[in-house]
Amino acid sequence: MEKIKVSDFGITQEGDQIKKYIVTNKNGMKVEIINYGGIVISLTAPNRKGNYKDVVLGFVNPEDYFNENSYFFGAIIGRFANRIAHGKFSLNGKIFNLNKNNGENHLHGGDNGFFTKVWTAEIVPNSQTLKLSYISKDGEEGYPGELTTTVFYTLTDQNALEIYYEATTDQPTIINLTHHSYFNLSGDFSKQIVDHELQINAEQFIPINKSSIPENDFKNVAETPFDFRNFKAIWKDIDTKNEQLQRANGYDHCWILNGNGMRSAGSLYHSETGRKLDVWTDQPGIQVYSGNFLDGKFETKTGGKNNPRTGICLETQHFPDSPNRDSFPSVELKPGEIYSTKTVYQFSVK
Ligand code: BGC
Repeated sequence: MEKIKVSDFGITQEGDQIKKYIVTNKNGMKVEIINYGGIVISLTAPNRKGNYKDVVLGFVNPEDYFNENSYFFGAIIGRFANRIAHGKFSLNGKIFNLNKNNGENHLHGGDNGFFTKVWTAEIVPNSQTLKLSYISKDGEEGYPGELTTTVFYTLTDQNALEIYYEATTDQPTIINLTHHSYFNLSGDFSKQIVDHELQINAEQFIPINKSSIPENDFKNVAETPFDFRNFKAIWKDIDTKNEQLQRANGYDHCWILNGNGMRSAGSLYHSETGRKLDVWTDQPGIQVYSGNFLDGKFETKTGGKNNPRTGICLETQHFPDSPNRDSFPSVELKPGEIYSTKTVYQFSVK
């Protein structure tokens, strides 16, 4: 049986024919990926009864992915995920100015970040892996160096979506890639995710200023609404009178993950359906975004509107504004080096 099926998805305003790739595993779990933005437009997961349902937010109309995806639904985010203060950084004594697409700041690679690019797709023979490549030109969105990026999406027979990223550059540059699916394990996208329980393997998080740029010191999660060391329902503390939560209308913060190397970042659990998602990564942080700025403008795939908090992003990554913070782990990529990182979204039932 063919494990990856390809079909036409839509045509961009620039006239590019975008394809849709459907990867199916032996259990019948499916992921649908388009080569525009490397976007996961659908991903199914089983409930306790073994019923597979779509668990990621997306648009109903294909064209909306091309023109309206300010939410970054399901996309690969690059060249630099999260915010860079004032859209500015320096590397080896040279200052670089990036596209400011989030007030004064640069967010998720800019208006024309990787989520808007047409990627070259290849089906890896005899596998459940889709390979996507994109060459970002020197100077694109203000970044130095020609960056060649490859992303491998693999759907395993153990019901995991594995994302492996690789990149090389011809000049020193900065890089921070992530994936921006909004999960809603209920399978009903008109419902808020506040009834989901979340667990994050982190003792500390990064407080933000009024424009969501890191403040100077990391903060312990203990005795704050940011304590997810044990499973906790999202509704429990999200509306607490807390300056950090008020600044973001909910959770939109980076947690400093415990440990190094490939390890568990945390889990999301929906008790009603039994669906559980475990996130594994080798990255230092995870941005947890509770869909605070979903604005009800679009119909969801299961009816109703894409209202606030109807999806949650679990974005594994380096810390926001790293290029401007000497104390944060380096995000520089030099010629001759290979950037490589992996994140696994593992589904199960409990
Ligand atoms: C960011 C949010 C931003 C959102 C846009 C998230 O990754 O952390 O601040 O509003 O993306 O969809």
